[in-house]
Amino acid sequence: MKGIILAGGSGSRLHPITLGVSKQLLPVYDKPMIYYPLSVLMLAGITEIQIIAAPGDVPGFQRLLGDGSALGLTLTYTEQDKPRGLADAFVLCAEHIGDDQVALILGDNLFHGPGFGEILRTSARDVDGCVLFGYPVADPERYGVGEIDAEGRLVRLEEKPARPRSNLAITGLYLYDNDVVEIARSLRPSARGELEITDVNRIYLERGKAGFVQLGRGFVWLDTGTHDALTEAGQYVQMLSHRQGVRIGCVEEIAWRMGYIDRDTCHRLGAALSRSPYGRYLMDITSDARHDGGATRTEERA
Ligand code: G1P
Repeated sequence: MKGIILAGGSGSRLHPITLGVSKQLLPVYDKPMIYYPLSVLMLAGITEIQIIAAPGDVPGFQRLLGDGSALGLTLTYTEQDKPRGLADAFVLCAEHIGDDQVALILGDNLFHGPGFGEILRTSARDVDGCVLFGYPVADPERYGVGEIDAEGRLVRLEEKPARPRSNLAITGLYLYDNDVVEIARSLRPSARGELEITDVNRIYLERGKAGFVQLGRGFVWLDTGTHDALTEAGQYVQMLSHRQGVRIGCVEEIAWRMGYIDRDTCHRLGAALSRSPYGRYLMDITSDARHDGGATRTEERA
């Protein structure tokens, strides 16, 4: 399965911060925002990822992530001259997708929850149709909204309905089979002139091929597109880091734990950042067995 991170747009809700820098490069506590969606794709087992950025922003992402090889990934970049809707990603990245399946994630979305890696890997296995992820929110009218039946099957999808029929927002993570490219190409722009992802998902729903995974109350799904949301997301990551000593969205650690790079490489990546707590965290977890509950010590004794 291929991956796409949509990191385009003007970030106008964050002006003036985003006048000089891409939104997805802004910090969420201790790391750039794009690390969070990137880590989700990595946890799903995806290593070939294309990043869509606004004109002029590609060099910033390249400086940060390069060609991905340091993390055992293959990263490529493409420019979107102006926002044309989420579904435009499949038209822009058709060559990258080839005849494969594809996961799209929005560059400002942060997911965290128990067993998420396993849920992702299970959901991404042989996608036939699409898989959408629902999450209960207090303000569903701001999102795509899914309505489910008693068995938890998706029965209706609406984009930002004035009167939502459920509290389940469709999150910014989507898995598709290869039909998505043709479906996106066949779409007409909506009233706001965009290729809407909800229109793509409705076509799958009509075909009886829209899978739905409900993320429960124990999950956290945040977007980071407003000043308050950005600050709150940073505070959430800070709180976890202080309380548990874990850093979420740490792409070097995930690359190591997923087997994309080995322990020494991960340690070296940390050593290169050793003046920051982030770098020292990487050095610690790759040298100190306490960080996996002693598991490494056992493994190394064996
Ligand atoms: C987009 C989608 C919407 C989805 C949301 C998730 O909204 O259109 O269906 O629920 O992302 O963040 P937008 O961010 O374009 O307003």
